[in-house]
Amino acid sequence: MQVVGVTTQQYIYVASRERKFRINEILVIEDPEHHYPRGEVIETKSFNRFIPLTMERSPLIDSGVWEGLEQVGFRLGEETIHLAKVRLLGDLPSPVEVGVRVRLPEFSEVEDLLVPCRPEKGLVLGVILGTEDLKDGLPAELREIAPLYVKGQGVLPQSAVPFIFDYRAMQEYPHIGIFGGSGSGKSFGMRVILEELLEKRIPALVFDPHYEMSFGTPFEGIDEKWASAYEGRTEILTVGRDTGVNFEELTGNDLASLLTAAGSNFTEGMDNALKAIHQERDSFASFSQKLEDLIGLAEKEEETREKIRRKYGDNSRYERTLLAMARQAGHPSSLRGIAWRLYRLQREGIFQKGIEPIVASLQARRLTVIRGPIWLLTVFGAYLVRKLYRMRRSYADALQRGEAPGEKFPPFLVVTDEAHNFAPKGIEIPAPARSVFREVAQEGRKYGVFLILATQRPALLDETITAQLNTKFIFRTVRASDIRVIEEETDITAEESRRLPYLSSGTAFVSSAVVGRTVAVRIRCARTSAPHTVNPFTELEEDFGGLPEAAWRAIKKLLPLDVGQINLYLPDIEEELNRSVSFNEVREWLEEFAAEGRLVKTAGPFGPTYSPAREEE
Ligand SMILES: Nc1ncnc2c1ncn2[C@@H]1O[C@H](COP(=O)(O)OP(=O)(O)O)[C@@H](O)[C@H]1O
Ligand SMILES: [Mg+2]
Repeated sequence: MQVVGVTTQQYIYVASRERKFRINEILVIEDPEHHYPRGEVIETKSFNRFIPLTMERSPLIDSGVWEGLEQVGFRLGEETIHLAKVRLLGDLPSPVEVGVRVRLPEFSEVEDLLVPCRPEKGLVLGVILGTEDLKDGLPAELREIAPLYVKGQGVLPQSAVPFIFDYRAMQEYPHIGIFGGSGSGKSFGMRVILEELLEKRIPALVFDPHYEMSFGTPFEGIDEKWASAYEGRTEILTVGRDTGVNFEELTGNDLASLLTAAGSNFTEGMDNALKAIHQERDSFASFSQKLEDLIGLAEKEEETREKIRRKYGDNSRYERTLLAMARQAGHPSSLRGIAWRLYRLQREGIFQKGIEPIVASLQARRLTVIRGPIWLLTVFGAYLVRKLYRMRRSYADALQRGEAPGEKFPPFLVVTDEAHNFAPKGIEIPAPARSVFREVAQEGRKYGVFLILATQRPALLDETITAQLNTKFIFRTVRASDIRVIEEETDITAEESRRLPYLSSGTAFVSSAVVGRTVAVRIRCARTSAPHTVNPFTELEEDFGGLPEAAWRAIKKLLPLDVGQINLYLPDIEEELNRSVSFNEVREWLEEFAAEGRLVKTAGPFGPTYSPAREEE
């Protein structure tokens, strides 16, 4: 192997007669003057006399390369030539020269680039692609720790140098993003990361909108000892059944943020009314009673007074309190706004249990999985993460100041799929969890609180947060808008970006400030699997009849409808459907109806407007 072309101090071309290059492999340039620099193969191409290279219009090849090849003794168009474009790692003061020899490294020569820490100190997530030839030189402790899986072939032995993520470095470079289209391997990769957290007993709070994150079922072909160990370290809780919000413990501000989360557009009027009504240690029953009676007083004064008097007697304390509140509570529409949001949350059972099981589980260093429908997870998640983050912060601050800390609370990770639902880009989209996710993204590092956020739509994730994700796993991505965000937010090269749409499931580029450069990784075989997967087509037939016609009936009455008005009409839509409905759900219906041609979508100053298609008028 020899250098045959030099474009810049960073990029060179290397050619070989015998050996095909591997993408991402590392080569040693035998240039003593530059202290044997190392380079990574970023593009490869092979030519033989049937594919004359002079005819080839490959973007890989600079014109100078032809001369270089001849200069070094290759017979163009006559013999087989393997060519690689190589990015040099590290800065050189001057270019290397054409003709310099190139060879494959020993493992010890590249260990510093590939393995940041011992496997027991890091997360063993997969193998580094392009390092297959180094496998035989691996020390025992780095062998057979990352078996792979190929559909149809089952579990295969570790093929290359393991990819070990130095999670301790997150203190300096916090937070992880997992991006990739549907089926690209995000959930599988997330599972592998969580298994490693289970190994290390790192407390993690996992929001699980897909009900897929459990760890008690062994992966087929893998020893079941892992699954049985992990099962005991995992706590799975469902919002509204096993966990929720203790109403009695809510401060006025807590309640305000929950109600905001339950339906956005929480007006100042509602906020004032809430402050007037809510008293410390109110139970759900006492609070809702006051609310109902106040609405009654505003709308049917005599009747309501009569009712109160029958119950509490003339001029009771309750009546006097209520009348005082009524003076401050403002317009009854504010009271109705509060009531609608309150009952929406109550219907989900959110006020029936507290967060004690979550706190206890994290304190026991368990993986704590919270399940529920996505809208409820975002509402509850906003409340929960704020609460836990505060607990951790006050404990860490007290320690820092040398004061007697209150209840101990450990560092922890917040992990979620569908992260763009928790923290969507664009302030016009209501999102209760966005502000606390932002806060953790920006300051969590100081307190040992870290995020692992997965999404198939990085372009829809809040930019402030995206910018704070110091490590990004980028799986197959096809959508141009997502690729653009990835190009902006990572250091992947143009060549890597071109490969993004073609990555196979389970292969990712890892772009990380911790690692220092982008590496291509094949995620290892998981040790556990989701207990059962319903065939999605069976699920479609059983659980979804298509878009609900009731949705159409509800929306038809509201046309033309601005995106910005959705929140205003949520109560009406919910009444028509007799269930809770989220902003996003309605927005998706509108898009779908527009795609079906039932609605016409036009751009307006405040986002799209949907109006009836002609035949519907
Ligand atoms: N690391 C991997 N090794 C082998 N197969 C994988 C890997 N990751 C994903 N796959 C395959 O791809 C499928 C889809 O992956 P999944 O993680 O569910 O995608 P996503 O969550 O991105 O939609 C998996 O069911 C599995 O068959
Ligand atoms: Mg998934």
